[in-house]
Amino acid sequence: MGEKITAFSTSLYGEPTWPIVSKKFDNLNPIPHHLHWAKWEVYDINSFDNPGVSPSHYHTTAMGLYPFVTKDQFLACMKRFGQGEYNGVRHLSPHVMMQLDNGFVMPNGVLHSPTNLCTHELHVTMDEHFLAEDLTLDGRIGAADAFYACREEDYPKDRHEDWEYLVEKFDFEANQDPNFVLKNSRPAITAEQFTTDGVDAKWIVYGDFLGDQKCSILRITLQPGSKTTFCPESPALFHTNAGSGRVGKLEVRYHHDMILGEIYPEIGFITQAALSKGGVEIHNTGSEPLVLTFDFPQQAHSKTPGLH
Ligand SMILES: [Fe+2]
Repeated sequence: MGEKITAFSTSLYGEPTWPIVSKKFDNLNPIPHHLHWAKWEVYDINSFDNPGVSPSHYHTTAMGLYPFVTKDQFLACMKRFGQGEYNGVRHLSPHVMMQLDNGFVMPNGVLHSPTNLCTHELHVTMDEHFLAEDLTLDGRIGAADAFYACREEDYPKDRHEDWEYLVEKFDFEANQDPNFVLKNSRPAITAEQFTTDGVDAKWIVYGDFLGDQKCSILRITLQPGSKTTFCPESPALFHTNAGSGRVGKLEVRYHHDMILGEIYPEIGFITQAALSKGGVEIHNTGSEPLVLTFDFPQQAHSKTPGLH
């Protein structure tokens, strides 16, 4: 991981560990409306993970609350939890069309119910949440379950189902920011330092959020036959999104219709040892574009990508 990431993760978690979780989820229905008291996350909902989805699709993510929602309305909604047919919390939330191949940042404390598109997500290495919705397309959620994944340090157990306490703790300012989508969208931008002949590079998630550099996602596309030496400042994990080729010594190839339990050569890790030797050569040895997506952890860059 190198000295910098080791020191950072040790200071955060008390032990050296890769400080970011990189996952993909492909849920059938939108995830129940929820928030994380402490955990932030970022999304890369891309056309490679969602083949055949039209750019004018109507897959939405509900986020925050409309600015017109009063504290009393929200409290009344929460008090209906488990009491009737549906507490209707998502009726109070703007639904946002997620733009394929652009990134999005979800700060902690803000309600969200991620879309039913396949989502590549990065977040800190723990999970905790409060579920605000008592009925979803996947079934009912009881009030006790709503608080089940709250950590004691974020939300005391003796306050579970105390809806007044919940509403007092709720960050209305963050949830009702009229510029929330503008501030948290990350339209893909060119990553000039990695762009060369036959090689296109884009930052998908970049910039500071919640006050500093959290994590970033870079997508590199190599045309058939193209090569590049990739030497970012920090180790990174990568996914293969299309094509085939070689990353350092590792042969990579994208697969359709993968079977659970099988191992596929799609995911790799660029180590500090490789970077210290000048980086890795990436070579598209196939006949289609080779697309790789790199996940960088917190504080990976000496200069935050996308900030001038
Ligand atoms: Fe979440």
